[in-house]
Amino acid sequence: MIQVFVDESSVEVAPGSTLLDAIQAAGRSVPTLCHDDRLTPAASCRVCLVDADGNGPVAACSTPVRAGLRIGLATSASWRRDGLRAVVAGLPARALDVPGDRSELVRLCEQLGVAPETLPLVSGSRGVDHSHPYVKLDRDLCIACGRCVRACSEIQGTFALTLTGRGPDTVVAPGTGGLWSDSDCVSCGACVDTCPTGALSEPGLLDPRPIEQWTRTTCGYCGVGCTLDVATRDHEIVTVHPASDGSVNRGHACVKGRFAHSFVSSPDRLQSPLVRRGGELVPVSWDEALDVVADHLRAIHRPDAFAVISSARATNEENYLIQKFARVAIGTNNVDNCARLCHAPSAAGLATTFGLGGGTNAFDDLDRCDAVLLAGSNPTDAHPVVGSRILQRVIDGARLVVIDPRRTELARHADVHLRPRPGTNVAVFNGLAHLLIRDGMIDEAFLRNRVAGYDELRDLASDYSPDRVSDISGVSVDELVTAAHLYGDAAAPAIFYGLGVTEHLHGTDGVRTLANLAILRGAVGTATGGGVNPLRGQNNVQGACDMGALPDLLPGYQKVADDTVRQRFEAGWRTSLPSTPGLRIPQMFDAARQGRLEALWVVGEDVLSTDPDTASVRAALDACPLVICNDLFLSATAQAANVVFPVASWLEKDGTFVNFDRRFQRVRRVVEPRDGVRTDLEVFRQVAARLGVDLGCATPAATLDECASLAPLFGGISEQRLDSDSALHWPCGTPDDPGRPTLYLDRFATADGRAHLAARPYLPPGAEPDPSFPYILVTGRRAEHYNSGEMTRRTPNVLLRADEPLDVEPSDAAALGLRDGDPVEVTSRFGRAVLPVRFAAELVPGQVFSGFHFPAAGVNELTSPLGDDVTGCPEYKVTAVRLRALQTTIHGPTR
Ligand code: FES
Repeated sequence: MIQVFVDESSVEVAPGSTLLDAIQAAGRSVPTLCHDDRLTPAASCRVCLVDADGNGPVAACSTPVRAGLRIGLATSASWRRDGLRAVVAGLPARALDVPGDRSELVRLCEQLGVAPETLPLVSGSRGVDHSHPYVKLDRDLCIACGRCVRACSEIQGTFALTLTGRGPDTVVAPGTGGLWSDSDCVSCGACVDTCPTGALSEPGLLDPRPIEQWTRTTCGYCGVGCTLDVATRDHEIVTVHPASDGSVNRGHACVKGRFAHSFVSSPDRLQSPLVRRGGELVPVSWDEALDVVADHLRAIHRPDAFAVISSARATNEENYLIQKFARVAIGTNNVDNCARLCHAPSAAGLATTFGLGGGTNAFDDLDRCDAVLLAGSNPTDAHPVVGSRILQRVIDGARLVVIDPRRTELARHADVHLRPRPGTNVAVFNGLAHLLIRDGMIDEAFLRNRVAGYDELRDLASDYSPDRVSDISGVSVDELVTAAHLYGDAAAPAIFYGLGVTEHLHGTDGVRTLANLAILRGAVGTATGGGVNPLRGQNNVQGACDMGALPDLLPGYQKVADDTVRQRFEAGWRTSLPSTPGLRIPQMFDAARQGRLEALWVVGEDVLSTDPDTASVRAALDACPLVICNDLFLSATAQAANVVFPVASWLEKDGTFVNFDRRFQRVRRVVEPRDGVRTDLEVFRQVAARLGVDLGCATPAATLDECASLAPLFGGISEQRLDSDSALHWPCGTPDDPGRPTLYLDRFATADGRAHLAARPYLPPGAEPDPSFPYILVTGRRAEHYNSGEMTRRTPNVLLRADEPLDVEPSDAAALGLRDGDPVEVTSRFGRAVLPVRFAAELVPGQVFSGFHFPAAGVNELTSPLGDDVTGCPEYKVTAVRLRALQTTIHGPTR
């Protein structure tokens, strides 16, 4: 430590600290404007000047300490005031009219007594750029501090901004020149959040009326679980700020969490229950709709004629109550959730390998890893805050291996990018295992003491020579060897992966053979490894599974077939429970088509848009006598339902979510639910009551308490604790258990306490291109929209991306005579759709890519009903298609 003096006070700080750090360590402060703790210092504003050893002014924010230095604050106050006066003197008077809660500059002027009437303020003339739907620039308020430029590059990793002009004309601008709306800006809002003057603002903050209330909650978009502070006025949302002390996001967010909230007050919101009469959905009272559902459910012939698809968008408490409704009020295990469509292979694969179905490490372990293996995931689009943090880590020196057919944003920053043919992951992972073993990059003591199945894997991996893997996957031998050594030679390597690993015919094998690498390397269940971390898709898909919205598992991953477990739940719920595992989602649709399902309740999912092979889903809904749908909007699935309940969004209710690294976090009601809207919790309780069943769980807090009493994994978790601790990682068994961010430090949770290596061979995908269907379609996410787009398409995000294109590699497009924007007919073995072409150099020739955020585009008309051989997760990542240029524009799917 280094001793320095702040005026007369002695203080010790770490080497490398700045004078500003020392001043703060001494409990003192100096004003700053161009400084942001998260960014490298720029020292451009000069409002933090202090005296150093009596030798004159230095910028406290950028000057490093040295032993014995004497920092004079009392003697330098006038320098700081003069620095601030110099900054303000170049601004128009309205710079000081910005409300103080939106301008550090205004607050500083008040603090230092710099009055506008004492300054030669200028008249502004540089104009505004309001071209972007969210980011609004007033050039005359810009002090060229560069915080926005640094935030864009250092926090977001986008490098979209620059400072242009000279001297007093210097101002922030898009690096590409031109309008903000045409720039590389990804609309994360980091520039707005750090701007100290209001030069960069957003629509809600341009209104000078004061904010009435701030409410802290957890984002309801992807599974990252960003902590958000939401400002409201007149019961409407004004702005959303990422919390600087957010445990995952650390003051950052993406375009969805930061800006896409106006769907809450969309005129499209459902505000009355609907019941189908005479072929039409007509508005009815809540009592009438609840009675209709209860009467139908009372009349079904056997419990297993009912099924419910719970929601990864609903809270933990709602998911808990929904599975309890199925098991207690109806008497069936026919409950599942959309994890079936994304990370069911993770839950199955990780549970078999390690004992529990969640990611093994806390996301913060990224900070100390020196190599990242990122497989089948494009977090820049799908989990933007994770993408930014991985990029920050790479800029700070970590090595990066990306395994993805597309040249994603992070692939452009990778040390090596493997581009396997879709469907060949298992061969690549076995090939990497072969190399780890062949080249001695395994932890033999770890394998000996904590692992089972090494001999079998070694024998299998011997068949996956680099040459053979290269033949199967198309990855070059050199790149495979480089990747193996980047991962194997690292001191603390971490694996992150996404749906590019799971959504395959052999997705569970993909998860397990990927996890093999961490086990071989001894990089899981230890204090030094970054483990194996699935990037979960929907905001609470982890929680939906945790809460037992699964056909074979009760809350806390306890098997329904286990007599001891079931007896404990029977005692708690005072009823007998079915012991046979229920139907998975695809089996529910099969049962409906075969006439074995009399009622299907779909909660918060638009299965007609998001599930594969739309035609067969439509046939299932058509065949089911009663389809009930809970949703915010009249989605495609709601339009096909017999009864529709209008329900609250994540901004209108209380509860908890669990994010991708097993972190329980609070969800809080930010605004009152729209008129006529109820929570999913209320709807299920009220239907149960009509069936003569009291489900208890009167409040979200009581529901979580009941769950904790029955699920040992969550025994110590309560709303009360989360309100004071902000986040708890499960397992958390008792009220004084701090939770376990890193799993398996002592032993793995398998029956024998060992990690189980998987000797699984490569098997070909379900779909292969052939002369009739020569292209492979891969589907995935785009940054601006979320899932079926029901929420984001009802916000200005639709101005950032207005339709669903088909990405086509330019040479493929040229061969087909397609120009950018031309309509192209896409035909698979299952359906047909027409999409506009987008040239995409990030693709390999022969592969095309599409999102699924615009149901009208009908992308899931194309995808196949094939699914993972263990879990049934659809093979979304491999669909054989053919393309045909169209002469005229035709929108949407055809049947
Ligand atoms: Fe130190 Fe701007 S805050 S120079």
